[in-house]
Amino acid sequence: MAAQFVARVIGKKPNCVLGLATGNTPLMLYKELIRMHQKEGLNFSEVTTFNLDEYVGIPANHPSSYHTYMWEHFFKHINIQEHNVNIPDGMTPDVPAFCKKYEEAIKACGGIDLQILGIGSDGHIGFNEPTSSLASRTRIKTFTRQTIQDNSVFFTNENVPHHGITMGIGTIMEGRQCILLAFGKKKADAVARSIEGPVSSMVPASILQMHPNAIFIIDEDAAHKLQKRDYYRWIYQYKPDWQRI
Ligand code: F6R
Repeated sequence: MAAQFVARVIGKKPNCVLGLATGNTPLMLYKELIRMHQKEGLNFSEVTTFNLDEYVGIPANHPSSYHTYMWEHFFKHINIQEHNVNIPDGMTPDVPAFCKKYEEAIKACGGIDLQILGIGSDGHIGFNEPTSSLASRTRIKTFTRQTIQDNSVFFTNENVPHHGITMGIGTIMEGRQCILLAFGKKKADAVARSIEGPVSSMVPASILQMHPNAIFIIDEDAAHKLQKRDYYRWIYQYKPDWQRI
């Protein structure tokens, strides 16, 4: 469903700007987009991308960098032009200057048309950990102990990074459309708190309640703590055709 959504945005605007996430969650999306490119001619030649985040102190060619992830799992299989790919530089000698430039580059492209998001089990989006300012811009962020522990599997025999560069919550909120993907029981609590809880920096994804055009695409496991899930199914059942993906 998310892939169809992305394809529709590209169909309407071939030179659209996509905001992209890494992690386990979007792997299926990237696989399907690759299939659509190879089998159905989905054309990425004019598409520009901005990734949400990258580890600080990890070179682009490190096997666990988000650069490597994006090229291995997506970019090398489609016809995107390298100069249209933007991923934060974890090795930049001047983090604040880099972050300012990243924000300017997004603006110079006309802003993000469609932002793809995953969600952490604590409700983080990008590397915006709980209590991140809801107005934050691209900046350095210190990871929680939990995030460091979660990431430790990717950094055998090395120091696990303690910092990331991430688009801010304010940056994410300026995307014209957001799609958040969440699968599995581990995400159920964060999903319920994001959709049905109060808007709070304690659950960064809850800010999406204030977004004019945000969609959560989640499976039954990730949905199982939603109090109003029958109502959401009802809404979906009675959606007018023109609203369907
Ligand atoms: C990564 C990102 C993170 C992940 C989140 C969930 O670019 O934006 O917020 O989406 O940590 O990670 P997974 O999908 O591995 O559960």
